[in-house]
Amino acid sequence: MSDELANPNTWQYVCYSLPVIIPLSVFMFNKCCSNKYNTLKSKVVLITGASSGLGETLAHEFYSHGCALILTGRNPTELERVKSDLLSRNDVKNVNKPCTLVLDLIDQSTIEVVSQKVLGVFGRVDILINNAGISYRGRADATTAEVDYKVMLVNYFGQVALTKALLPSMIHHKSGHIVAISSVQGKIAVPFRSAYTASKHALQAFFDTLRAEISHHKVKVTVVSPGYIQTNLSLNALTGSGSKYGIMDESTMAGYSAEYVAQQIVEAVVDDEQEVIIAPLYARLAIGLRYIWPRLYFWIMKYRANRYTSQKM
Ligand SMILES: NC(=O)c1ccc[n+]([C@@H]2O[C@H](COP(=O)([O-])OP(=O)(O)OC[C@H]3O[C@@H](n4cnc5c(N)ncnc54)[C@H](OP(=O)(O)O)[C@@H]3O)[C@@H](O)[C@H]2O)c1
Ligand SMILES: *[C@@H]1O[C@H](CO)[C@@H](O)[C@H](O)[C@H]1NC(C)=O
Repeated sequence: MSDELANPNTWQYVCYSLPVIIPLSVFMFNKCCSNKYNTLKSKVVLITGASSGLGETLAHEFYSHGCALILTGRNPTELERVKSDLLSRNDVKNVNKPCTLVLDLIDQSTIEVVSQKVLGVFGRVDILINNAGISYRGRADATTAEVDYKVMLVNYFGQVALTKALLPSMIHHKSGHIVAISSVQGKIAVPFRSAYTASKHALQAFFDTLRAEISHHKVKVTVVSPGYIQTNLSLNALTGSGSKYGIMDESTMAGYSAEYVAQQIVEAVVDDEQEVIIAPLYARLAIGLRYIWPRLYFWIMKYRANRYTSQKM
């Protein structure tokens, strides 16, 4: 008799708790079993400038999600180092061995040939990360035309040529994702960075145009605009005369870690973001200010330029 009473009671409790149990188990199942990064598994990812800094860190990030990597840069020794670092990671199981290819983006005539080699490796490129870049420090009026061309060749024409060389294959496969690593300086111009900021503005404009033109082919475009990142970018920057700047800027050193930025970029790719700004609040405000109140923005930039000039930048 007491058992007969207990049974319906137990069932009642179970019924009442179902509205809690069902969503909770769905939530737990989602957390454990459906990882959005699983879509990256065995995707072929080409990274330019993979020999150091953000490109190298991006290689580790994509590799850890099971991607098949093609790493490019000018320096074969550094590319091999990155490759062996990846292969020696025992926290990651990835059956796809990374491949390295030398590609100098200044040498426009080789881009087409290298692209054919790239397509030969895994038969396609799913994600192209246009990351290679070179920075610049100097006064516009004291900068040689050669430096202006060089920065533009690496940061703009090189990316554009590589993208155009790989695009037909993406269109043919009706899938693909092109990522352009621009900069906050692709959105706002700051003094003593004329060639760099111009190249990044150009990059933004080109890829905004391309995004619209190729969307019906199911090829996606993400433009990434980071603030300062802790890399050797300023050490490798060119001066107005074309020599190496060779100084680690304080702003660069105080920037985001390359790991943080790389994680944000991979997430933006997985989430199909069309554009992402990875920068602190002051940089975001400056971007807004440039459009909402240009007079104030220009005043601040003049102030900044004069302050630097008095310090003999
Ligand atoms: N660090 C920052 O504060 C910051 C902020 C915003 C945006 N970014 C952007 O992030 C990207 C990566 O830069 P990073 O900060 O990682 O600097 P980095 O450590 O100097 O890396 C630059 C990469 O570009 C490659 N590269 C340079 N010239 C090249 C050329 N002619 N052809 C092919 N590859 C070339 C270099 O490889 P090789 O020497 O082997 O060629 C290197 O791997 C750049 O596009 C940069 O503009 C950086
Ligand atoms: C910067 O360059 C030095 C010397 O070439 C190298 O040891 C270091 O790993 C580089 N840093 C990054 C973040 O690429």
